[in-house]
Amino acid sequence: MSGALTSDFAPIALPAKGVLVVFCNPGLKFGPATAKLLQPVLDLVRRAAVADRFSGKPGSSVEIVAPSGLKVSRLIIVGAGNPDDPKADGKARDLVRLGGAAMGRVPGRESEVTMIAETGSGPLAPEAAADLALGATLRAYAFQRYKTKPKEGEERARTIALTIAAARPADARKAWRIRQPVADGVIVARDLVNEPPNVLSPVEFARRASALRKAGVAIQLLDEPALKRLGMNALLAVGQGSARDSRVVIMRWNGGRRGEPPIAFVGKGVCFDTGGISIKPAAGMEDMKGDMAGAACVVGLMHALAGRKAKVNAVGAIGLVENMPDGNAQRPGDIVTSMSGQTIEIINTDAEGRLVLADVLWHVAKKFKPRAMLDLATLTGAIMVALGQEYAGLFANDDELAVRLSTAGEATGEKVWRMPLAPEYDKLIDSKFADVKNTGGRYGGAITAAQFLQRFVGKTPWAHLDIAGTGMSSPSNDINRSWSSGFGVRLLDRLVADHYET
Ligand code: BES
Ligand code: MN
Ligand code: ZN
Repeated sequence: MSGALTSDFAPIALPAKGVLVVFCNPGLKFGPATAKLLQPVLDLVRRAAVADRFSGKPGSSVEIVAPSGLKVSRLIIVGAGNPDDPKADGKARDLVRLGGAAMGRVPGRESEVTMIAETGSGPLAPEAAADLALGATLRAYAFQRYKTKPKEGEERARTIALTIAAARPADARKAWRIRQPVADGVIVARDLVNEPPNVLSPVEFARRASALRKAGVAIQLLDEPALKRLGMNALLAVGQGSARDSRVVIMRWNGGRRGEPPIAFVGKGVCFDTGGISIKPAAGMEDMKGDMAGAACVVGLMHALAGRKAKVNAVGAIGLVENMPDGNAQRPGDIVTSMSGQTIEIINTDAEGRLVLADVLWHVAKKFKPRAMLDLATLTGAIMVALGQEYAGLFANDDELAVRLSTAGEATGEKVWRMPLAPEYDKLIDSKFADVKNTGGRYGGAITAAQFLQRFVGKTPWAHLDIAGTGMSSPSNDINRSWSSGFGVRLLDRLVADHYET
């Protein structure tokens, strides 16, 4: 499947070419419009279903090539929900997934696809039809910028034109206008995470984030002299072993009421994490190009909010550094004074993300006095030991914010699981020589990392998402086949839409 997919909505009718995708419920139960369209081939469909033992179970499909009686090159029938299960159709998350699963059945070289937005239970609501398009768009994504030739037999269409045939196409198109910027935002985040680390340096990342200016986002670029003036010594210490400069980018979208305090999003942007002097083993180190997935999510989210003109004041702030070993790199044993004034003893230079975040969180809390502050970071391997790759770790000093995030996670399928913060953990990061140390020992590694961050947020309602397991090296699913998931963009867009827009 190729990267670019364009979606449009049309009234329900038979397409004259390309791939036709229809949905049915168990028992080969079609909706009324679908049954009518398939009239000329119903017998063929029944025989194909029997031959392929297809009964319309959710997730299964059957395909008929060049069906006589229709003009299309291919008819694909996809099992949708179970009509007896009230949760089966209608839930946004499931329709996004269904759209993705359906697009997954379409061979890569096909360039025209029509999906009939109807299940066995009847026509989809306009929002549901748009969710179908969202899932299909995300599934069609592939990162192919550095492939000079396709594999034999895997020639791909450069662009795919997707038409969703819906009962109320004008309303579905309206619903898509809200979702398309979100789909674009997810793709912006995935592209950044997939990009190789020789190309995506902190300076180049900052340049790409600055493209948000075109969408009406105010951009402030902080270079090293500016960061020094602010006192962001913890962040600068991480970058000091790299030949490449560090950057902080602050993005502001003011779609809300004038003077209303913003909601703030902070992202870890370690463009490559070798571990520094506490260097990582060689195996799998290439994955550490994705150690900026938190920052990529923040950029993708700002893209989504600006693109759909969200009625909210939002700040996005990303700390961009490269963690390298070098004669100038920081050492275990170093003590740095963070912007907050708290001193930090460096025990392990590979616990660098929390140093970057400490200064950016502090700065954002002081400067913008946000109503809520969230950070996203590929922070610890320990969160993957705890939760695997399906749930992100959620830490919060505010119960309402935590509940809102969990609910948004269930709704979007970008799930989060709350982990504890408690003062008892603090002694694990108290330092002999400084105010705090940057590691807490073998046990509870994701918790002590969060406990460290908490020392830099003051009283601001705050949540931390540890996305080490979910933001990169992503397990394949119905809406993503790429190494990078873009995790967090849909989750936080939903959080904003449900609770922070005026
Ligand atoms: N970027 C890593 C965490 C990570 C590991 C992300 C695997 C994605 C996949 C982070 O900077 C790190 O190295 N954390 C250390 C902390 C330790 C030294 C206290 C870790 O998790 O081992
Ligand atoms: Mn590290
Ligand atoms: Zn890291």
